[in-house]
Order: sequence, then structure tokens, then C-alpha cells
Amino acid sequence: MTQSRKRHPVRLMLAAVAMTGIFASAHAGPTLYERLGGRDAVGRIVDELIETSRVDPVSAHLFVKVNHKRLKQKIAEQICALAGGPVPFEGDDMKTTHAGLGITEEDFYRLVEHLVAILDRSGVGTREKNELLGLLAPLKRDVVTK
Ligand code: HEM
Repeated sequence: MTQSRKRHPVRLMLAAVAMTGIFASAHAGPTLYERLGGRDAVGRIVDELIETSRVDPVSAHLFVKVNHKRLKQKIAEQICALAGGPVPFEGDDMKTTHAGLGITEEDFYRLVEHLVAILDRSGVGTREKNELLGLLAPLKRDVVTK
């Protein structure tokens, strides 16, 4: 509500990484997917992200009726595909998937904050972290509906 309209510190960070992502995409070499450690490593990060988000008092209500196993699998698949992995994401588009969930900006930035903490704990490099955040930032407009 009014809180969701406030400037959030993560907003600035996402704007900055979106810029670095544009430059990073021109860089040849191993894909982000490879540098993150492949499907298993991405899977571990997403598992932790969902486990954290579902007990976070800010966003827990959104995850109550959800099939967590499927959700983890689908988000991991999508992140792998976005990061240049070998398997295309074939789920529904983000707008359809999140329509009606009533996700606020605060929910979105909260999830990003959890993700950043998990990436840091997992030893993911700054460049990889910024590239990943740069890929996720543009999805905000499809995910946030409230
Ligand atoms: C860029 C960020 C995000 C990505 C890449 C993403 C990705 C996905 C994907 C792939 C699914 C589909 C799962 C399926 O097909 O069953 C999904 C569903 C869902 N997402 Fe997100 N999501 C994002 C942000 C968020 C945020 C910020 C929240 C809330 C804090 C959220 C909450 C949910 C919930 C609750 C579902 C389950 C819907 C259901 O099964 O009814 N997502 N997300």
C-alpha cells in the first residue's frame, strides 16, 4: 500500500546492475549459468530463497497455498534459462503466473534482498551477482501488481 510506493534501497541497486548487465552481455566466455555452477547450484540457491521467503513475515502469506516443490523447480528452470543454460523455460509467462497474487514492490525488493544475501553466503562473485540481478530486475513490471 503506501509502503510499497516508498523508495526502496534495493531499487537503486537494481537500476545500477541493469546497466552493468547491458555491458556484461557483450562479454564472451562461459555463460552466467556455467559461472553460477549449473543446474544444481542454481537449484540450491532457489531452494534457499523460497524457504526464506515463505517464512518471512512480509511475504509468507503469498506462499501458503503453493506447491513449493514445483515452485522451486520452475524458478530454478527459469533462472537457468535466463542465465544461458541449455534448457529453455517453458512455463507460463511471468505476467500470467503472478496475476492475482497481489505482489507489492515491497515483496519484490524483499525477495531480491534475500537473494543477494544467499548469493553472498554461497560465494557467488560480484560480477555474477550483478548479472543475475540485472536479468531479474526487468521482470518486476510483470510480477508486481499491487
Ligand atoms: C524476478 C523475480 C521472480 C521470478 C523469476 C519468479 C518466477 C516464478 C515462476 C517461474 C513461477 C511459476 C511456478 C509454476 O509454474 O508453478 C512463479 C510463481 C510464483 N511466484 Fe514468482 N517469481 C519472481 C518474483 C516473485 C515474488 C517477488 C514473489 C513474492 C514475494 C513471487 C511469488 C510467487 C508465488 C507465490 C508463485 C506461485 C503461484 C502459484 O503456484 O499459484 N514471485 N514465480
